[in-house]
Amino acid sequence: MPVRVAVIPAAGLGTRFLPATKVVPKELLPVFDTPSLQHTVDEALGAGIDHIVLVSNRAKPAIETFAEKASGGARITVVYQDAPRGLGHAVECAREQVGDASFAVMLPDELMGDSTHLRDLIADHDATGTATIGLKRVPRNEVSAYGCITPQGVPDATGRVGIRDVVEKPNAVDAPSDLVIIGRYVFGRDVFGHLANLKPAAGGELQLSDAIGNMARTGKVNGVLISCSRHDTGTPLGMLTASIDAALRRKDVSTQLRSWLERRLTS
Ligand code: UTP
Repeated sequence: MPVRVAVIPAAGLGTRFLPATKVVPKELLPVFDTPSLQHTVDEALGAGIDHIVLVSNRAKPAIETFAEKASGGARITVVYQDAPRGLGHAVECAREQVGDASFAVMLPDELMGDSTHLRDLIADHDATGTATIGLKRVPRNEVSAYGCITPQGVPDATGRVGIRDVVEKPNAVDAPSDLVIIGRYVFGRDVFGHLANLKPAAGGELQLSDAIGNMARTGKVNGVLISCSRHDTGTPLGMLTASIDAALRRKDVSTQLRSWLERRLTS
């Protein structure tokens, strides 16, 4: 059955963007002139999603306003996470809205160039029936910022690889590989059983990566390497570079921006 539902967790505190997030949720900060959450919604629509479940927090009413006014024609339902108890818990909060169908999970602080990667994950899930997780290869000294997988062998020519286990934010020396999870997932309803059994990890959060690790150890989980461009907008620097990149692609401002950057960098 085609995947039609996407869960977008947006209930976090956004502490890395303080003081901006005292007044604006991180997910609504603009990438150039468009809220980053709108980019996620557009990516979902481009992959055939027609119902988005936004997991929010009652201290972020602007997320509800976004849900009412978002462009593109998606049906958006807002559900609430009582406190930011981790990504695994946030996804669990969407259980009732998701129902029995397979669904995507999309972290809005990952900006993909287009819908290609999500479409690839959905196609893999459709073909195999397994949970399918987006991956990328990073330099070893960057793995500690991510969930890192133990692969079953090397990725094939299409970037597909089985996942044997997952460890959250390992030290570079202990990391099982240089393949990390990048915030796009497709799950069947069985993930909710694993989420319900999660125990708090170090820091007290219920981690989605622990649920994926449990699924991988007891069944089958696939990974697919991303082939399109991507920005991590979860940090102010990542958001700035994503904005510059977006503006450089825009015909109406790119010439002016390019010449300002050239002057700025040589003065
Ligand atoms: P992050 O960990 O990047 O977001 O979670 P954060 O916690 O808001 O950021 P910092 O670390 O304080 O700066 C990735 C996504 O998951 C959501 C966040 O809103 C973000 O979109 N999230 C995270 C939840 O919805 N609930 C949680 O308990 C944790």
